[in-house]
This record gives sequence, structure tokens and C-alpha cells, in this order.
Amino acid sequence: MCGIIAYVGQKEATPILIDGLKRLEYRGYDSAGIAVMDKKKLVCQKKKGRIQALEDKISVDYPEGKSGIAHTRWATHGEPSDLNAHPHFDCQKKLMIVHNGIIENYQELKEKLLKKGHKFKTETDTEVLAHLIEDCQNGKLSLLESVRCALKQVEGTYGVAIMNESNPGEIVAAKNGSPLVIGVGDKEHFIASDVSALLPYTRRVVYPRDGEIIKITQDDFIVRSISDRTEKQRKLEKVEWDSEMVKKKGFDHFMLKEIFEQPQVIKNAIAGRVIPEEGLAHLGGLNYSDKELQKTKRVLFLACGTAYYAAMVGKYLIEELAGISVDVEFASEYRYKRMIIEKDTLVFVISQSGETADTLAVMQEIKRKGHKVLGVSNVVGSTIARETDGGVFIHAGPEIGVASTKAFMAQITVLVLLAVKLGRHKDMTLKQGQEIIKALLEIPNKIEAILEQSAKIKAVVKKYKDVKGFLYLGRKFGYPIALEGALKLKEISYVHAEAYACGEMKHGPLALIEPDFPSLFLAPKDSVYEKTISNIQEVKARKGKIIAVGNNGDKSLAKMVNDLIEIPKTIEPLEPLLTVVPLQLFAYHMAVLRQCDVDKPRNLAKSVTVE
Ligand code: AGP
Repeated sequence: MCGIIAYVGQKEATPILIDGLKRLEYRGYDSAGIAVMDKKKLVCQKKKGRIQALEDKISVDYPEGKSGIAHTRWATHGEPSDLNAHPHFDCQKKLMIVHNGIIENYQELKEKLLKKGHKFKTETDTEVLAHLIEDCQNGKLSLLESVRCALKQVEGTYGVAIMNESNPGEIVAAKNGSPLVIGVGDKEHFIASDVSALLPYTRRVVYPRDGEIIKITQDDFIVRSISDRTEKQRKLEKVEWDSEMVKKKGFDHFMLKEIFEQPQVIKNAIAGRVIPEEGLAHLGGLNYSDKELQKTKRVLFLACGTAYYAAMVGKYLIEELAGISVDVEFASEYRYKRMIIEKDTLVFVISQSGETADTLAVMQEIKRKGHKVLGVSNVVGSTIARETDGGVFIHAGPEIGVASTKAFMAQITVLVLLAVKLGRHKDMTLKQGQEIIKALLEIPNKIEAILEQSAKIKAVVKKYKDVKGFLYLGRKFGYPIALEGALKLKEISYVHAEAYACGEMKHGPLALIEPDFPSLFLAPKDSVYEKTISNIQEVKARKGKIIAVGNNGDKSLAKMVNDLIEIPKTIEPLEPLLTVVPLQLFAYHMAVLRQCDVDKPRNLAKSVTVE
């Protein structure tokens, strides 16, 4: 996610802002920028790349002043570049803004502003906000009132900080869906994305709520409601964390933080891409016309590791919901095979990092043969994102833990949207589309309910800490999740796990069953539930221990197994979004219990850029 730091007080702002950006680096970024009120002029410096590059640039022309804003950008719209880095400006370059979030209706707002004569320099949604505020201010309103007027027209998520030359000594900020915190010092005040940027200066903080706007000056701060201007009394709190902990927001590991970010990640992946009342999904970046999409006869997914398992879920989704045949191939295998890709085939590469060597190579080979390749990726400006002919960004924010969790969740969410998009061009009805989207919008809350069971799952893990391995078993939508869950366990706890389609057990793996070789079944009440139950009975008959992931209140399942982890019900195609969460937590707690390096497991890299 992007990082924001703003300062107004009696000290030089630039060193505080640069130090703050460095404390926010862990959030991941691809460019950085700063704006300081230097005497009566807003001076801005911004640079693609690391913060050091920005420091080198400002050392030549050092901004002096006692108030400023700064930003590290994790690109969502517009690729990483000096131009697209924040702050962004209005027409006169007298108003500057830094933003963390996604403005869903920025295109529509931009059209209106263009008609009013505003001139844009970038493709970013943030620049639209700068011009919208300028348009509201129109030389009359206070900075706070003009920001409030603009934000009332905005749909989407934001954490913003704004300065303009006509209001020196003031910084206005606002929050909706992105983190923001006010730092309270002696004759100085701060705004930041999180407290890690504030700790050297103050531990006294105020947490504004969503839909609130803030003004800070050297001596004071106020919080108002964006909708009706009413002043909000927010209590002063004291930060107890140290800066290392704060980077993980109080979580012991980035992986756990990222598992707990998943409800918000799904919302970000969906944002601006569904029309619930029409039962439609909108994926702007595919660069295929609806007519071309209607002709799709086959989909080919290429990926590695966890992204491959997401692609497998995509296969079940698109075949079930759109009636289109899907093939999934390991990028590392397919690149050496004879490639048979007919016309009317949609080819996708799926990659969180956008830099995986095998995935990159297979994409280049397919393009060499004259086919278009689309991407499902997380890093704007990554090689795959830049070299594909279009695609969809998953907006999961930077994933620091080597074991992919929230990116996997966002990949599946995007694949649900793709299945609806394709399906509604085929024979998926309006009602079916509405049902899927309604169920999808309910998933974040259902994941929250599962996350509350983390301690219970940890207690189950304790019982199996010393086993020599596991069988993970799932059927239909559960099979790719069994594979993904087994991979999570192996890669961070080094405990062996083999995953099979349930129906395959009797063809050999059943021979492995022993008391200290437990089986973990995915058994939600779906179209294959009865079949899965008979597989559970087969293991039970051979004295195998059984852990099951099943629906809340499934008493008969609870009686059959040694441990039941309960999840809420959802429609069958969306089950993977829920069943994977207990397996992520299971792997996490096993790794912690076995004192493994959760975020940096042995032998592995976050992005496999070598073959
Ligand atoms: C998953 O937890 C692993 N880190 C690994 O399998 C990963 O999914 C794989 O290397 C693909 O990475 P990508 O999505 O960045 O291409």
C-alpha cells in the first residue's frame, strides 16, 4: 500500500518527511515524492525508484519550510514513473495532494473536469482529485471546505493529505477505507498512514474514522464529518508499539498480517468492477471487445506455485459459470511443450510478482507465436504487467511474506469476476450473475468470522505438531485448495503434506493412512459433500486421524472427525475464498510452533526470477 506522512510545526519539514517515508518503506513502493511550503511557494520533488533516488534529487535543490507532505507510491493506476509519483497537482501547481486508495469513479469525474477546461498530465486517479478540489475551491472556499466538497463526489477508498499556497501552515487530510492517523506533538502535528512514521516524534495519536476530514496546524487539529461538517471529538491515545512491531501493525509476522488483510483485499479487488443490480462484472484492462469475448471458446491459464492453484480454481469457476473449456498449465512445463493455441482462445499468465522467470518466458514464447497474452498481476510496472497485451491488476498491495496468501485471495476474486464477465456473455442469466456478485460481496465478513478462530486453529495444530506428514483432500472446488493448503504447510513449516482429489485416495494414497499420518478434508456442504463423507469414512475405518473444514453447525461431520474447523456457508463456486483461510492459519501456526522463519522460509524467494 502507499505511504503518507505530513508535518506542520516549528522544525524543518524535509528531514522529518524523508525519515517518515523510510519508516513506511516496508509497505512496498515503486516511487516517492515530497512537497514543502518553502516561504510562500509549494516546492515539489518526486522520483521513480527508491527513497535514496528522491534524496539525491532534493539534495541539489533542498526544500526549506516548516510544513509539507510526502508519499511512497504502490502503483494501481498508471505505471511507476517520475510523472505518476505523488504529490499530484491542480492546474496552477498551487495545490498538491498525496493519496492512498482507489477512486472508482475517477474516469467520470475526469470527463466533467476536462469539459471545464482542466488539463491533466497523468493517467492517475489521484490527479483527478487535485483538479476536483481546485474546481470546488474556485478561489472562494477554505481548503477544508473545498476538499470536503470534492470528496462528497468521490466513490472509492482514500487516505489523502493536501496543501495549497493560499492556506499556508495548514494541511487537510481525509480518510475513507485507507489507514490514516494524526500525530500530536508540542507545537507540531503530523498525519501518517500508520504510527511507524510518527514514533521518533510522538506517541500521542488520534485515529480518525472513515468519512472524516481533518485539518492540522502547528498549534491544533480538528476532525469533522465529510458529509455534514459536524465536529468530531476523537480521544487522544498513546502508542505502545515499538517501530519494528508497528511495521507489522502488531502482528508477529507479515504473513499473519497479510492473512488478516484479506477481507479488505477482496474489497479492493472488487472495487469499481461490479454492477450488482445488473449482475455484471467490469474488467476494463482486458483490451478485448465484448464481441471478441463472446467468441471465446477456450481459456488457457499459465502460472507457477500458488498462482497455478489460483488458476485451477479459475478453471472450475469459468467452466462451471461460463461453460467455457479451460486448460491450466505450469508455465515451467508449457514453455517447452508444443503449443496448441487455436483462435478464440484467451491466454492468461497469473503472477503476483510479475517477474517469475518461467511465467515471463512462457508469455514471451506465446507472444512470439503471434497470440495475445493477458495478465493477472499485482505489481504495476512489473515486467509481466508491462509486456502483456492487457489484463487485470489484483490490487492486493505489497505482499511481503514469501508464502502467498492475500495475493492468492485477490487472484481468485479476480477470477470470479472474469467468470461472471465471460458467463454473462454466454448463457449466465441476470439472476445468476446477481446471486454470484451478492455472495461475493458477503465474503469479506465471512472471512472475518473465520479469522476470529485463529486461536482455535492454533489449538488444533498443537495436537498434530509432531506428525510426520498430512494428506490434504478436497473435491471439485476443494481440490485446488487442498493443493494450495498443502503447499503453504510445506513451504513455511517444512512439514510434508500431499494433496489429492478425494476420489483418488482409493487409487493408492489410502495406503499411507496410519495414526500419525492424519488427513485434512475440505468438506463444506456442497454438491459433492456426500462423496467426501464416504472418503472420510474410508480413512476412519483405517484408524486414520481426521481434521475437517466444514460448515458451521455440521454436527454429523463433527461426530465423524477428530477436529472440525467451522466456516460460514457460501455458494459452491465461492467456497475456495473461505476454505483456504483455515489452511493458511493452520500452516502459519504450525510454522510458529516449529519455530520456523515464517516470513522468510529456508531455500525460498518471494519472486523466483531464475529458472
Ligand atoms: C507461494 O506461496 C510461493 N511463494 C510460490 O509458489 C509463488 O506462488 C510462485 O513462485 C509464483 O510466484 P508469482 O505469483 O509471483 O509468479
